[in-house]
Amino acid sequence: MDHSRLSMPLGEAIFTQRSIRRFKPDPIPLADIELLLEAAVRAPNGGNQQVARFLVVNDSATIGKFGALYHEAWWAKRRDMGISRPEDLPPAMLSAARLADEMGEVPCIVFALATHRHLANSVIPAAQNLMLAARAIGIGSVPTTLHPSVMERFRSMFAIPEEVELHFCVPLGYPRGNFGANVRRPISETTFLNRWAGPVPWT
Ligand SMILES: Cc1cc2nc3c(=O)[nH]c(=O)nc-3n(C[C@H](O)[C@H](O)[C@H](O)COP(=O)(O)O)c2cc1C
Repeated sequence: MDHSRLSMPLGEAIFTQRSIRRFKPDPIPLADIELLLEAAVRAPNGGNQQVARFLVVNDSATIGKFGALYHEAWWAKRRDMGISRPEDLPPAMLSAARLADEMGEVPCIVFALATHRHLANSVIPAAQNLMLAARAIGIGSVPTTLHPSVMERFRSMFAIPEEVELHFCVPLGYPRGNFGANVRRPISETTFLNRWAGPVPWT
């Protein structure tokens, strides 16, 4: 695989990989999607059993149909949190709510799955590889999940076998808006040295 197109410095890709939830309608060339998948499968995985599977969807009619299901799933998750009306959403959820409205119009979706249940650890590194590679070639993404109430319909929409488990639904597209720094707690709050709560030398 020619990976020379992934020449953005790793630090730049990592430090500017914030969630992108608004996309231009432009399609992503198939060769670019291939590059992302080649990056994804290079990720570490348990025993190199390679249980991750990727379902790429770039058919706009299918994405449109899925968009309605995603919208329902997103609002089912809000209802589980006690939120049922757009007016009650906290500001931090507004961009995710807009993605729920617009998922049906994204140019491409990659579903990251595993051949069997309880294998998330072998899929998540691959999903991050895919999203970092996407960032490196100017494609935005965000990992999202569905809700149990839609899973049966999700499976039948894409003919996904019962034993296969979904881990992430990753919309992909050229950003409307910019990549850039994200907001995180300082590592001095989240990282310990040598024992739990052992202070780190970094402030
Ligand atoms: C397990 C997981 C589930 C997520 N689910 C959603 C989701 O359903 N919808 C969404 O818009 N973003 C989702 N996200 C993205 C997070 O909201 C995002 O990574 C976080 O808010 C930090 O945003 P930032 O990277 O832009 O700073 C999810 C991320 C993870 C890791």
